[in-house]
Amino acid sequence: MARVPLMAGNWKMHKTRAEARAFADALSADAKSARGVEVVVCPPFTALGVLAEALEGTVVKVGGQDCDSHDQGAYTGQTSPAMLREAGATHVILGHSERRQYYGETDASVNEKLKASLKHGLVPIVCVGEKLEEREVQLTDNVIIVQVQRALSGIPAEQVGGLVFAYEPVWAIGTGKTCASDEANRVCGLIRETIARHVGPGPADDVRILYGGSVKPETIAEQMAQPQIDGALVGGASLEAESFAKLVAFDQVTA
Ligand code: PGA
Repeated sequence: MARVPLMAGNWKMHKTRAEARAFADALSADAKSARGVEVVVCPPFTALGVLAEALEGTVVKVGGQDCDSHDQGAYTGQTSPAMLREAGATHVILGHSERRQYYGETDASVNEKLKASLKHGLVPIVCVGEKLEEREVQLTDNVIIVQVQRALSGIPAEQVGGLVFAYEPVWAIGTGKTCASDEANRVCGLIRETIARHVGPGPADDVRILYGGSVKPETIAEQMAQPQIDGALVGGASLEAESFAKLVAFDQVTA
C-alpha cells in the first residue's frame, strides 16, 4: 500500500489566535484543497480552536505539540488528549527534542503519551533524533533504535501501522543545517527496520516516517524523492503561509 505523504507544520511557541486566523486566511486555496498529501498544522494550544475553525471545510488538519498521558486530573499546566480532540486536533507531536531537552521528556513518558493519544483517537507524530555529540561518536543508530523501541513498548501490532515517526536530528533543528538527504533516508530506513523487528514488515511498511530539521521549499523536492521519507515536520518554514503552501505542493517545487 502506498503511503500518503504527510506535511506537518510545528509552530512551536509562535502565533497568537489572531495570527493563527491570519495564517489560515493567507493560506492558498491550492494548499487548502491539496490532494494526495495529508496536511497538518500544530499551533500552540491557545490557537488550536480558532485554527481548527478557520480551516474547517479544507483538507488542512490541526494537531497539538504535546499532550499529557492522563485523561484528566490535578496536573497543573497539562492538556489531555481528549481536550485536544475536543479543540479540533486530529494529530499530536510527541517527544520533540525541545521537550526532551527543556521539559524532562523521556522515552518512558513518550510511550505513556503515545498510548494515551491512541486511546483517544489522535494520530501521534513521534519524534526521534540524535544530538550532535552523539553523531560525532557514531552513536546515531543506537540512539535512534533505542528511542523507537522504547516508544513502541507495549503498543499492539495492529495500532502501529497508523503511527507517524519523525526523524529530527537535533543539530539540524532551527540551525539551517539540513541533514543530507541520503543520510536522512538511511536513518528513516533504520527506523522502519526497527519497527519491523517489533511488529513485522506489514505494519512497518504502513508507518509514515517524516524528516524534520531546517526543511525549506528549496530542500523539499530532494527530500521527498527519497524512498524512506514520507513527509516533513517543519518548524520555521511553516510559519509563513506562502512557504508552507510551497512545501505542501512539494511535487511541483523544483529545487
Ligand atoms: P525547523 O524545526 O524546521 O525550524 O528546523 C523543525 C522542528 O523542530 O520540528
